[in-house]
Amino acid sequence: MITSFTGFSCQVILIALIILSSSFSCAVTTKTSTKARPFKKIYAFGDSFTDTGNTRSVSGPSGFGHVSNPPYGITFFHHSTNRYSDGRLMIDFVAQSLSLPFLPPYRYLKGNGAYGVNFAVAGSTAINHAFFVKNNLTLNITPESIQTQLLWFNKFLERKGCRGPASSSPECKAAFDDALFWVGEIGVNDYAYTIGSTVPNETIQKLAISSLTGFLEAILKKGAKYVVVQGLPTSGCLPLALTLTPEDDRDNLGCVKSVNNQTHIHNTIYQAKLQALRRQFPEALITYVDYWTAYHTVMENPGRYGFKEPLKACCGSGGPPYNFDVLATCGTPSASACKNPSQYINWDGVHLTEAMYKVLVNMFVNGTFSHPPFNELLDRKLRGG
Ligand SMILES: *[C@@H]1O[C@H](CO)[C@@H](O)[C@H](O)[C@H]1NC(C)=O
Ligand SMILES: *[C@@H]1O[C@H](CO)[C@@H](O)[C@H](O)[C@H]1NC(C)=O
Ligand SMILES: *[C@@H]1O[C@H](CO)[C@@H](O)[C@H](O)[C@H]1NC(C)=O
Ligand SMILES: *[C@@H]1O[C@H](CO)[C@@H](O)[C@H](O)[C@H]1NC(C)=O
Repeated sequence: MITSFTGFSCQVILIALIILSSSFSCAVTTKTSTKARPFKKIYAFGDSFTDTGNTRSVSGPSGFGHVSNPPYGITFFHHSTNRYSDGRLMIDFVAQSLSLPFLPPYRYLKGNGAYGVNFAVAGSTAINHAFFVKNNLTLNITPESIQTQLLWFNKFLERKGCRGPASSSPECKAAFDDALFWVGEIGVNDYAYTIGSTVPNETIQKLAISSLTGFLEAILKKGAKYVVVQGLPTSGCLPLALTLTPEDDRDNLGCVKSVNNQTHIHNTIYQAKLQALRRQFPEALITYVDYWTAYHTVMENPGRYGFKEPLKACCGSGGPPYNFDVLATCGTPSASACKNPSQYINWDGVHLTEAMYKVLVNMFVNGTFSHPPFNELLDRKLRGG
């Protein structure tokens, strides 16, 4: 089941350019603005909420091993692209808004990754896989963690002739120049794999955050300058969590209170670490994307964002209230998709619909759910090169 428990456009650039041009009181011609791309590439990391095809499976041993089957991809790509959604993920909308192509998955990279590469892989954890093996946490069948993704990134750089920090060679400079680092949500799996075990949540919290901090430190030391870091979502609002917990463990939104509390605390500690990294690497800009509060805000008034079904999975089986059955999840013959995925927040019991990802990206990019705001990052990039 838990293999993948997890989880802008040219106009933005134009807006940034308009702000920029007014503050410098000089005209930006249409020609420059359509050509200007603040970032030439994106390197992305994370789990199934960010994975654009590193994972593939038609018949995994667990409930979420069916991402290669229909109806995954039905809304936008019209076939499965091994993304855990009916269409685009947040990282896809981010790429589009920066006028960049969709990010190719590292494992199946065909070109040279000139516009960036996606290292995120479904099911992956913040904590090293060995920890789960050592503690008999056999729910974790995914050997990849954020450390694996760092190894992949290093291999990718080596292939480009870069063996040191950004400043060490022209090859390294080229690989880091104009690069946006998108560190998607990762950590939800770590908690999920320990459900029912004797490993205390506090241990997971400590190890996961320390692993992520170590990862961020490594890429910042190498020379990452523009880094977007996403916190954990309100994972207590996912049908999987709702199905596995007692009905008296609910908050005012109908989500699992203890789980949302846990992810909230995790995010608070994570942000304190980011603050320390900002002091340690003053030349870098680190933006925190508040997935938890954005998701929570949508849940408080789903209708305002066009949603009719906040808690029910679009694709699944079992019917109300959650349309979720761990043994017959989306992609298996007994599951089916709803007719109107855009009215649903949740796609398959764990992952979200393209419609929800689109709403969230808008909140991050145009709204107030990134700290500092995403526009500030674009603005600084356009000024600072
Ligand atoms: C930001 O807002 C503009 C104007 O409303 C919109 O066209 C654009 O799609 C938004 N960006 C994202 C990423 O949603
Ligand atoms: C893991 O399982 C093995 C075999 O069942 C057992 O010997 C060992 O003590 C277990 N380890 C932990 C940390 O529970
Ligand atoms: C989470 O639980 C702790 C301890 O029970 C409590 O102090 C805190 O206010 C809760 N936080 C949220 C966001 O619910
Ligand atoms: C640990 O997880 C359990 C189950 O979700 C929850 O009841 C408890 O409050 C959690 N403790 C902390 C410190 O998050």
